[in-house]
Amino acid sequence: MTTGLPTLLPAAVEVEQTTVDVPDIALFPQELAAVAGAVPKRRAEFAAVRGCARRALGRLGHAPAPILPGPNREPQWPAGIVGSLTHCDGYRAAALARTRDILTLGIDAETHEPLPDGVAELVTVGDEPRLLARLGAAEPGIAWDRVLFSAKESIYKAWFPLARAWLDFTECELTIDPAGTFAGQLLVSGPRVGDRVIDRFAGRWTIHGRHILTAVWEPATRVAR
Ligand SMILES: CC(C)(COP(=O)(O)OP(=O)(O)OC[C@H]1O[C@@H](n2cnc3c(N)ncnc32)[C@H](O)[C@@H]1OP(=O)(O)O)[C@@H](O)C(=O)NCCC(=O)NCCS
Repeated sequence: MTTGLPTLLPAAVEVEQTTVDVPDIALFPQELAAVAGAVPKRRAEFAAVRGCARRALGRLGHAPAPILPGPNREPQWPAGIVGSLTHCDGYRAAALARTRDILTLGIDAETHEPLPDGVAELVTVGDEPRLLARLGAAEPGIAWDRVLFSAKESIYKAWFPLARAWLDFTECELTIDPAGTFAGQLLVSGPRVGDRVIDRFAGRWTIHGRHILTAVWEPATRVAR
């Protein structure tokens, strides 16, 4: 049975996830140069997630290609492809799609544990503290503050390729449905794409083993969600 991120995203998105790092994933010379000075842990996650991305690229009919970080660390995809990467302790994933199907997407994985003291106050805005209190009272077994944090990181990864600008945690207000969906309303001007202004991101979340997984996507053509 498929579990994890593939269950959160539409069929047009190819998702590859792994909980183990296979040694010796081949990197392109430019990729090796990008992590040349990095610690082994960083090199391992960088390679593992690129292994995931290349498998997803292959299913989209693309030959293996270097996936280099751009000036703001954003992954740079072959023409016609959008995608997102995430890695945390014990989990790596890549989600890729054709631009004809998906305008933008973002994925994030976090260890399922509460945020460190003081962080929730920094990443919430508007009604979100009351939302977290309500969710916590109804379902205390879920680290709702971490779900919110991960959902916002997914939104950032989907926002950035369109806006090419920073988005603060307090510039987007979330609603979270305990059934597994969330939506983020931007509190700043959204990027314009053709005749659309993207000012809201909708997504899904799940608890997958010891991880929280979140994903957002915006279809290539506007549909009500
Ligand atoms: C960029 C950021 C979201 C990455 O999240 P993280 O939990 O630290 O790390 P993850 O492992 O989940 O994701 C790392 C991947 O994110 C991707 N990423 C980094 N910067 C990115 C950007 N500007 N745009 C899109 N994707 C980006 C990269 O692919 C990176 O993997 P790589 O370095 O191996 O290529 C986070 O470090 C950050 O800067 N957050 C602050 C901005 C934010 O989230 N605002 C909330 C707005 S509501």
